[in-house]
Amino acid sequence: MESTRNLALVTGASSGIGEALAERLAKDGRDVLIVARRRERLEALATRLQAETGVEVDFLVADLTDPEQLLFVEDRIAQESRLDLLVNNAGFAGYGPFAEIEPSVADRLTAIHIVAPLRLARAALPGMIARARGAVVNIASLLALSGPLRLPMAGRATYAGAKSFLLTFTQLLATELEGSGVQAMVCLPGMVESEFHGIGGGTFADVRLMTAEDVAQAIVVGLELGETVCAPTLEDATLFERLRELQQAALTAARSTELAGRYKR
Ligand SMILES: NC(=O)c1ccc[n+]([C@@H]2O[C@H](COP(=O)([O-])OP(=O)(O)OC[C@H]3O[C@@H](n4cnc5c(N)ncnc54)[C@H](OP(=O)(O)O)[C@@H]3O)[C@@H](O)[C@H]2O)c1
Repeated sequence: MESTRNLALVTGASSGIGEALAERLAKDGRDVLIVARRRERLEALATRLQAETGVEVDFLVADLTDPEQLLFVEDRIAQESRLDLLVNNAGFAGYGPFAEIEPSVADRLTAIHIVAPLRLARAALPGMIARARGAVVNIASLLALSGPLRLPMAGRATYAGAKSFLLTFTQLLATELEGSGVQAMVCLPGMVESEFHGIGGGTFADVRLMTAEDVAQAIVVGLELGETVCAPTLEDATLFERLRELQQAALTAARSTELAGRYKR
C-alpha cells in the first residue's frame, strides 16, 4: 500500500545536521527522502530509521554540484505530491583566502550553497503552493551576519557570502509566500559538531560545539513557531527585530535621488 504520510526531503543527510534532522523527522512520523553522495551512509541510515520508526526512508545518491544530478533531484521533487518539507542542508566549508582558493572550489561553494537550494526550492514550491501546505528550510550559518565584522577567522568570504545570499533570499521568499500556506525559514547555526570541521573535530577540536540534534530540534520548533529566521543558539530573538529596524532605517534614509554630501567633491 502506498504511504499517505507527509514526506520531507533533506539534502546532506549522510552526516551531521542533515542526518540528525532526518532521524528527528522520521521519529516524528514523516516519511523521509535523504540525499547526498555517499551511498553506503544513506543506505545504512535509511535501513536503520525504517527499522526503528516504521516510516518509509528512501534515498537518492546525487552530487548536487553536478547540474545533471541536480536536475535528477529536481525532477523527483516535482513528482512527489506528498512533499511538505524541503531542507536544503548539504554543504561544505572550502575556507581559504579568496585570492588563493581554487576557482573550482569557489564554483562548488556557490553551486552547493546557492544554486542547489534555489533549484530545489523552485522545483518544490509550485506543488506546495497548489496544496497550500509545506515549508522550505535553508540551512545558512551565523556567518551570514559576519560581513561587517572582523572575526579572528579569515578566509570565509565565499562561504559566508553564499550563506548571506541564503539569508536574504529566504527572508524575501517568506514575504512572497505570505498567505499561501507555505513557509520559508532560514536556519543560522553557530558551531555544530559534525564532519563539517573535518572528521573527528578537525580545526576546532578544542572548541565546544553544539549538537546536530539540537539544531534539528530548533528547526522543527522554529517551523512550529512560524519563524523566518531560526537561530538555534540566540536566546534574545528580538535582536533580529532590531536588526530589521536598522536595515529599514538605512534603506529609508537612502531612498533619495540626491547624491550624498560626502561624494560631492
Ligand atoms: N557544522 C557547523 O559548524 C555549521 C555551522 C553553520 C552552518 N553549517 C551548515 O550546515 C550544513 C550541514 O553541515 P554539517 O555541519 O552537518 O556538515 P557535514 O557533517 O559535513 O554534512 C554535510 C552534508 O552535506 C553533504 N554534501 C556535501 N557536498 C555535497 C554535494 N556536492 N552533493 C550532495 N551532498 C553534499 C555531505 O554528504 P556527502 O559527502 O555524502 O555528499 C553531508 O551529508 C551545511 O550547509 C553547513 O554549511 C554548519
